[in-house]
Amino acid sequence: MRHLLDTRTLAKDDALLLLDTAEEMSATQQREMRKLPALRGKTVVNLFYEDSTRTRISFEAAAKRLSADVINFSAKGSSVSKGESLKDTAQTLQAIGADGVVIRHPASGAPERLARSGWIDAGVLNAGDGTHEHPTQALLDAFTMRRRLFGAEGSRGRDLDGVSVVIVGDLAHSRVARSNLWLLNVLGANVTFVAPETLQPYGARGWPVTVRHSLDEALREDAPDVVMLLRIQTERMHAAFFPNEREYARHWGLDDARLGVLTERAIVMHPGPMNRGLEISSTAADGPRSTVLEQVENGVSVRMAALYLLLSGERSSND
Ligand code: NCD
Repeated sequence: MRHLLDTRTLAKDDALLLLDTAEEMSATQQREMRKLPALRGKTVVNLFYEDSTRTRISFEAAAKRLSADVINFSAKGSSVSKGESLKDTAQTLQAIGADGVVIRHPASGAPERLARSGWIDAGVLNAGDGTHEHPTQALLDAFTMRRRLFGAEGSRGRDLDGVSVVIVGDLAHSRVARSNLWLLNVLGANVTFVAPETLQPYGARGWPVTVRHSLDEALREDAPDVVMLLRIQTERMHAAFFPNEREYARHWGLDDARLGVLTERAIVMHPGPMNRGLEISSTAADGPRSTVLEQVENGVSVRMAALYLLLSGERSSND
């Protein structure tokens, strides 16, 4: 693996290698001395063109725990806001000697452009591009599912064959939904997308997913092991996609009544940031089924695994 740009083209072996390596990383994080020397002398640049809390600090913590030098570069307050192109920024990073670039960008495809351009030799990790993909989020979600459903010991080497995953909410604008769909398919899970028609992704009917409009129907018919709620992304909405917030919560929110019909082992996931009372009730977000904080914790282990697999050892330009 040279870059981590998407999950759509991620082979099953590579996905399992990432998840199993994340288990190893997680085990090292239980020790008193959490810092590993694996990336000593390497430089990782966090290049964020879009706001982020969780993902940026998670990548930063992951790189630091592997002893890499970390440079945080946020587009606000940099020459990017003066109109500097991605090419010029990339060439600057190359001159600085970046070994890895973690990029979040509002334009779908920007990380791939960076990786394939020849402007830099660094490994590129996509931290979310437009509505396209967010591969480390999908990996930390799969990691969290394995952990909760099979335990840490039972997780190693294991896929998600037959696991039923219902993903609810703003699918149209969600790179998390797309990355999850591809990865979950490769791991053998069955995925259902639930949203009003206006929030279903364009083209979803050609994808390996069951499309439904009713959350109650999905909970009944698919007996999910995992219910994943997604944030309503008002910042990407330039039209009205549903009548109002009350109506949305009534039809598609995971409220206390719906929480009550879940099977015993079912878990509730959300990538954050959450709109409490809209897509998820506080009882669901804070209850024992919720994995919201575990997802954040597991994110560090997964990103340590990705950085380690991409950046340790010698990098050659043709592997
Ligand atoms: C997601 C993102 O930015 O794509 N959040 C995250 O990475 N924690 C989802 C979202 O913004 O709703």
